[in-house]
Amino acid sequence: LPRDLFAPERRNSPGLAFGDGVAVGGLIAALAQVAGPFTAAPIIDGREEPGRTRSVASPIDGAHLGHVTEAETASATRAMDAAAGGFAGWSATPAETRAACLDRAADAVEEQRETLLHLLQAEAGKTLDDALAEWRETIDFLRYYAAEGRRLFAEPLSLPGPAGETNSLTLRGRGVFAAISPWNFPLAIFTGQVAAALMAGNTVVAKPAPQTPLIAAHAVRLLQQAGVPNDALHLVPGGPEVGAALIAHPALAGVVFTGSTATARTINQALAARAGAILPLIAETGGINAMIVDATALPEQVADDVVSSAFRSAGQRCSALRLLLVQEDVADTMIAAIVGAAAELRVGDPRDLATDLGPVIDAAAKTRLDHYIAQIRPQARLHLAGTAPSGHYVMPHIIEIGRAGDLREEVFGPVLHVARYKAGSLTDALQEIRRGGYGLTLGIHSRIEALAVEVAAALPHGNVYVNRNMIGAVVGSQPFGGSGLSGTGPKAGGPHYLARFAIERTLTINT
Ligand code: SER
Repeated sequence: LPRDLFAPERRNSPGLAFGDGVAVGGLIAALAQVAGPFTAAPIIDGREEPGRTRSVASPIDGAHLGHVTEAETASATRAMDAAAGGFAGWSATPAETRAACLDRAADAVEEQRETLLHLLQAEAGKTLDDALAEWRETIDFLRYYAAEGRRLFAEPLSLPGPAGETNSLTLRGRGVFAAISPWNFPLAIFTGQVAAALMAGNTVVAKPAPQTPLIAAHAVRLLQQAGVPNDALHLVPGGPEVGAALIAHPALAGVVFTGSTATARTINQALAARAGAILPLIAETGGINAMIVDATALPEQVADDVVSSAFRSAGQRCSALRLLLVQEDVADTMIAAIVGAAAELRVGDPRDLATDLGPVIDAAAKTRLDHYIAQIRPQARLHLAGTAPSGHYVMPHIIEIGRAGDLREEVFGPVLHVARYKAGSLTDALQEIRRGGYGLTLGIHSRIEALAVEVAAALPHGNVYVNRNMIGAVVGSQPFGGSGLSGTGPKAGGPHYLARFAIERTLTINT
């Protein structure tokens, strides 16, 4: 691929040197000064709509953070109408102007570091390390899509043709995009979806996850202050009925969604049932992400990478490791090393720097995980468990199951499943993974290069990591997204993403 596909003039955010005690101490002191309360409401044409409010509680300790006014389906419809009204103006706005809005928004995200980190911790329960990573990813998405937008949308692409004929290809916006985002990256994925759709010339109605409306409202105000016109971007906090109203609206031109496979399927069915044009769905969903560890892997490195992949962010990443497959000959040693490392993890208030795992997102997630662990316990071998602090906390669990195919559902939390394989039966284990239908992240730990090649070739996974952890894809370096039950592609933070938000026109002129 030509190098300019990766927009080399752009650099990822340098972030903060976590080893720099003075800088980290200063940041923590500044975070303590951030004052709420925060609010979220439907934002339509730049105006915040009044309505019935509910309190937003922190997953850390239930503290009241602010209020959200959830959208009624009527306001979702008004937001779609308003976005339809904004389309002609925004899609005709030069790509450079649209890109400049995203660059200014990236500057604002950098400037508002303390407020955004505070919200990521308070509303989403993130450790400082995770909050910083997400804040950086947000800046990177904005700058990357701005750079990509200049490459793709500024000038028509000239194409070859016979003498006497000129051919060119132009990309432009489709219309109104519904952007439906999850709570696990409430700033980076929310902003990434919106920025991509806007850069491609679409107007957007964004529906954040019900658990994290405050940070989404903050992001919308920030984007509008950075120059995104009020009629190009609208916010509708709410639940599935709000999403359904967006998808039913006649002005809808496409959907970008990150969340569960089940919800992606519901959206896809709703799109298929509509009259009129056939609309695109860009979906990034979950996975039963596996890591294969063979007898040549280094136990200390495996332990480190398994623990961060399975348990960082309390396992609440779509990329997180769910299923570890270890070659039988070394399984006891590997499992002992992993259990030893995982047993040291500290679970608790994520604002405490010593904490490794913060809370899970809400009471429903806690109940679901507790229930899952209780029902699998009798049929599996438990290598690690524990009693969590009170609140929405779940201890890291390591559970041995018989074989890869025994794990059929994505367990979205700090629960790692382990299965052993015999050297001669790796192909069978890989087939079981393949039959599961997911294809998001895949890890391989082996010092035999041919094995990594063989495993990767046998599976359709979108992000393959060899001899390292398997989370934290970097914008522009590790475009992120899967296939099959894990999503439609194209990959976020990659060179083919923006084009899917656009329609193409080929213009042929006989000169
Ligand atoms: N992009 C995130 C990661 O790679 C998704 O969960 O970890």
